[in-house]
Amino acid sequence: MQIQMTALQNREKGNYDISFLNEEVAKEIYAYHKSFPVYQYTPLVSLNNLAALLKVKDIFIKDESYRFNLNAFKVLGGSYAIGKVVAEKLGMSLEDLPFERLISDEIREKLGEVTFITATDGNHGRGVAWAANQLKQNCIVYMPRGAAQERVENISNLGAEVTVHDANYDECVRMANDLANEKGYYIVQDTAWDGYEDIPRWIMQGYMTMAYEIYQTMQEMEKKPTHVFLQAGVGSMSSAMTGFFANVYPGEEKPVITIVEPDAVACIYESALAGERVLIGGEYFTIMAGLSCGEPNTVGLEVMFDHADYFISASDDLAAHGMRVLGNPVGDDRRVISGESGAAPFGVVSKILTCDKFADLKAELNLNEDSVLLFINTEGDTDREHYLEVVWDGKHPITE
Ligand SMILES: Cc1ncc(COP(=O)(O)O)c(C=O)c1O
Repeated sequence: MQIQMTALQNREKGNYDISFLNEEVAKEIYAYHKSFPVYQYTPLVSLNNLAALLKVKDIFIKDESYRFNLNAFKVLGGSYAIGKVVAEKLGMSLEDLPFERLISDEIREKLGEVTFITATDGNHGRGVAWAANQLKQNCIVYMPRGAAQERVENISNLGAEVTVHDANYDECVRMANDLANEKGYYIVQDTAWDGYEDIPRWIMQGYMTMAYEIYQTMQEMEKKPTHVFLQAGVGSMSSAMTGFFANVYPGEEKPVITIVEPDAVACIYESALAGERVLIGGEYFTIMAGLSCGEPNTVGLEVMFDHADYFISASDDLAAHGMRVLGNPVGDDRRVISGESGAAPFGVVSKILTCDKFADLKAELNLNEDSVLLFINTEGDTDREHYLEVVWDGKHPITE
C-alpha cells in the first residue's frame, strides 16, 4: 500500500485556454449524446452510510458502468469525435447530424466507405468500434500485450478487426498512426501529441457529457463537491473533467482536484514533479489496464498543470481494495460494480481517510467531516474473471 502525492513542482501555473471545456460546449455535446436511442443518464450514487463510516459529509460516485450498455464511459469521447469527423468531411455542422441522421443511408452514401483505426487497452476501442458499427463503417483496433480476452472479444463482437501486439499502449498508438498515414484511414485516438490535437480535443469534449450530468444533478441537490478525485491514463478524461469543473466552479469555488495513477506507470505524476512532460517507456504492468499509459496527452497535461491541485501515484492493491469496498456496500448504500481503473481513486482515498500512515496526506488534502467527495466509476467489471478473483478470492490484498 503505497501512495505518493505531489503538487505541481518546478513550474508556475500557467494560463492555458480552457474555454473549449466550458459549460456551453458541454451542453451542446450533451444534446448530441441525448439524441442516441441508447442514451440514458448514468446514476450519481450517494453512499451515505459509507460517508458516515469514513467521517466525511458526502461520497458521490458517478457510475459509468451503465453508459450505453458498454460498461465504461469511453464511448462518449469516440462517438463525439467520430460525429465531428463525419460532419467535417461532409462540410456539415454536427448540430444538423443527430444520431438517426448520422447513421442514415443518406450520410453513408455521401461519406463513402471509410476506415477508422485506433489503439486501446479496451474501453476506448470498444467505444470507437461501437460508433463505427453504428455508421456501418470499417474499424481496426490495435491492443497492447496482455490485453484481457474478454476485452478483445467485446471489440471484435462489434465487427472491428482486432489485433493484439507485443507492444505497450503508446507503441500501439504509433503503429496505428503509421498505418493510418499509409492507408488514408482516420485515426481516432484518445490522446494528443504535437500535430495531432483536433480529434483528441473532441474526445476530451465528448467526455464532458458525464461532467455535465454530474453538475446538473448536484445543482438540483444543492450540493457542490469540495474534492474531486480523477483517475488518469494519458489524462484525457481527467483533464476534461478538471477543465469543466474549473470553468463551472471558478476561483474559490473550485473543488480540490486530485489526479490518481498507478505507480507502475505514473506519467502525469512524474510530469508534475518535473514541471514538464515526462514519457515512460518499455514494459510495465499494473492491474489498472485503462490507466496503463506512459505518455501524457499534450493538451490535457497543460489543463491539469494549471488546474489540478495534487497528483497521486498509488499501488495496485489500493485499486483492488476500492473494488471490494464498492462491491460490498454498507447498510442500504447502493452497490457499485467497479473495475480496476474505475475503483482506483476511491480505494486510495478510503485508505487516506482511515490509515494513520496517511494522516499527513489527509491533512494536506484538507479532508474532514465537511468534505463532499466526488469520484467517477469509469468502468464496471470489464474483465469479469479478474473482477471475481479480486472481489471473491481477495486477489491483490492490501499490503502494509
Ligand atoms: C476505465 C478507464 N478509466 C480511466 C481511463 C483513463 O482515461 P485517460 O486515458 O483519458 O486518462 C481509461 C482509459 O482507457 C479507462 O479505460
